[in-house]
Amino acid sequence: MNITIRQLKVFSSVARNQSFTRAAEELFLSQPAVSMQVKQLESQLDVALFEQLGKKIFLTDAGHEVYHYARLIDEKLGEMESIINGIKGLHHGKLRISVATTANYFAPPLLSTFYKRFPGLNVVLDITNRKTILKQLQDNEVDLVIMGQPPKEMDLEAAAIMENELVVIAPADHPLAGEKQIPMSKLESETFLVREQGSGTRYAMERYFQAHELNITMGMEVSSDEAIKQSVQAGLGLGFLSSDAIQTELLLNRLVVLDMEHPSRKRYWHIVHRKGKRLSAFAHAFKNFILEEGPHILGKEPAGL
Ligand code: PGA
Repeated sequence: MNITIRQLKVFSSVARNQSFTRAAEELFLSQPAVSMQVKQLESQLDVALFEQLGKKIFLTDAGHEVYHYARLIDEKLGEMESIINGIKGLHHGKLRISVATTANYFAPPLLSTFYKRFPGLNVVLDITNRKTILKQLQDNEVDLVIMGQPPKEMDLEAAAIMENELVVIAPADHPLAGEKQIPMSKLESETFLVREQGSGTRYAMERYFQAHELNITMGMEVSSDEAIKQSVQAGLGLGFLSSDAIQTELLLNRLVVLDMEHPSRKRYWHIVHRKGKRLSAFAHAFKNFILEEGPHILGKEPAGL
């Protein structure tokens, strides 16, 4: 068998896009060139990889198998490239990081310090919610992630960075603002703005209310911390967010943290990767940097102190 990496790349693009035309656009090739690569791969394997039903193309059973291995090979090539870059010295390389939406409030200053030390580094930063981060870890699409609580059921290596305190927020002129040790039951007469399904913040909020057996009215569902803050300020309800997301609003007295009788359970930010993943030299350096210097740069206590 004389399969080439190029054939596999072209085939993967067609499979992912379910279209020869879109694959050609993605790869800056002509459509006949794409068809030719796929045909050659099919003849090497002596099996059909796609079937056409109506106007659509679908992977055959063999196609699904080849697609699975083509992705594995592509991942391993990327891994090899990073490792070799590391051996050559930390001069050039790529670091793929995903951070939870809320970590967006502190990740950029950390990245900027790290960047200055390794100017040859090319960082691909994705800011997305917990659900997507878990999918990216599952599919081995990222080197490292910064997230809240990692799930126990996935095989991950997670190290706690610093505390991620989750608090109930209200507009500065709210009647409960300034009250001390507010009984939990008072929240039952409020409406809460909620993050979207799949958000770690939302998950933590639901667990907090469940733990205190509260029957909470859920108001508008919004998919960013930023929108929650704006909506709370506009008087649309209360919110439940990481204190890392509201520092500016607290300083400007636009929002207040309600002093609840029972604060939410202690949570931490974690730096996480798949167990057994061979980290590139850059990824190693970044992980150590975050754990050793991150909290200090942000003026926070490191976890475990
Ligand atoms: P989120 O994650 O951005 O998905 O809400 C934050 C967290 O897990 O604490």
